[in-house]
Amino acid sequence: MSQLFTPITIRGETIPNRVWVSPMCQYSSDTEDGRCRPWHLIHYGSRAQGGAGLVMVEATAVQPEGRITPWDLGFWSDDQSGSFEQVAEAIDRTGSTPAIQLAHAGRKASHTKPWEGSDFLEIGDGGWEIIGPSPVKFQDDWGTPNELTIEDIDAVVADFASAARRSVDVGMRAIELHMAHGYLGCEFLSPLSNLRQDEFGGSLRNRSRFALQAVRAVRKTIPESMPLFVRVSATEYMDDGWNIDECVQLCQWLKGEGVDLIDCSSGGNSVDQNLEPYPGYQVQFSSRIRNDTDMLTGAVGLITEPLQAEKILADEEADVVLLARELLRDPYWPLHAREVLDDDTSTWPDQYARAAGIPSIAR
Ligand SMILES: Cc1cc2nc3c(=O)[nH]c(=O)nc-3n(C[C@H](O)[C@H](O)[C@H](O)COP(=O)(O)O)c2cc1C
Repeated sequence: MSQLFTPITIRGETIPNRVWVSPMCQYSSDTEDGRCRPWHLIHYGSRAQGGAGLVMVEATAVQPEGRITPWDLGFWSDDQSGSFEQVAEAIDRTGSTPAIQLAHAGRKASHTKPWEGSDFLEIGDGGWEIIGPSPVKFQDDWGTPNELTIEDIDAVVADFASAARRSVDVGMRAIELHMAHGYLGCEFLSPLSNLRQDEFGGSLRNRSRFALQAVRAVRKTIPESMPLFVRVSATEYMDDGWNIDECVQLCQWLKGEGVDLIDCSSGGNSVDQNLEPYPGYQVQFSSRIRNDTDMLTGAVGLITEPLQAEKILADEEADVVLLARELLRDPYWPLHAREVLDDDTSTWPDQYARAAGIPSIAR
């Protein structure tokens, strides 16, 4: 049996395989109230039916101001619970593990949808005041964030914990905190976006304080048996910026706070980042973090082939792989990959059994 389709147990949760759906914003909460819509039910349900071991619901804002666009999912109120419960149930019914990524977009909040240009939304046009560790813009034509006060930071941390509590209540069985891609947690970590002089800026320990406080608050809120993941940008690809050495130290601290797995991404905090992606370009970060911290890691980024994914696990460079765009192209990728690696079609849904194992040319 392939490693890709070997179950993995993290705390009290056994996840049936190691192909996970990477979080992907759908910008489809169409009435701007943060709730999941039929689109989300179908989208996440299809990927669960397609055989992914864990389906991670997209970056879900813990405060209204933490949305990238007005159409992002949000979980800042109990009133939003019903819609998330339906999604969690749809994923669970397929045998896959429902998970959710909790996020705050910080200085990258308040934009139009990507397919409408990702332009900065001014307040009069449906946007809002944005926040960040320091009043440093992401790029020239985007907004300047208001510098968070200590009270504001405490409120964001508390809202991460409240959103985690709601996630548990609706049936999510793993939680990931988004500290990557230039969003709020990542902005605190980087010395380029965090110019604070207080205990949240300056030294690595101070820049890590927000992430560690959010993790501590969430870990205290969720059951002991529930897995907790953190997505990091392992480097921001900038001279004098956040780098893999600092990230390894952060992960060691996160481990001490009860984080179970590091989801290893990179970049997103600077328009000038020096990056040319290639297949598996972030696996090196997963490998380094796994080796240096003895934590479970996830590899993500341009992983598209079953043998490529299997080799990452066989070479002990990661414990799971997360696929994003490939699972948009083909929600049934895990079922096909299992045929390729294990000559096994037994996990196809019964309803689809008559289609299983037949070469596409004969279909
Ligand atoms: C449409 C889309 C939405 C995304 N939204 C998120 C998100 O909500 N949270 C996140 O951490 N990454 C997000 N990402 C990044 C992916 O999770 C993934 O890390 C990235 O696409 C690289 O993986 P891939 O090469 O398999 O696509 C998004 C990517 C895409 C294509």
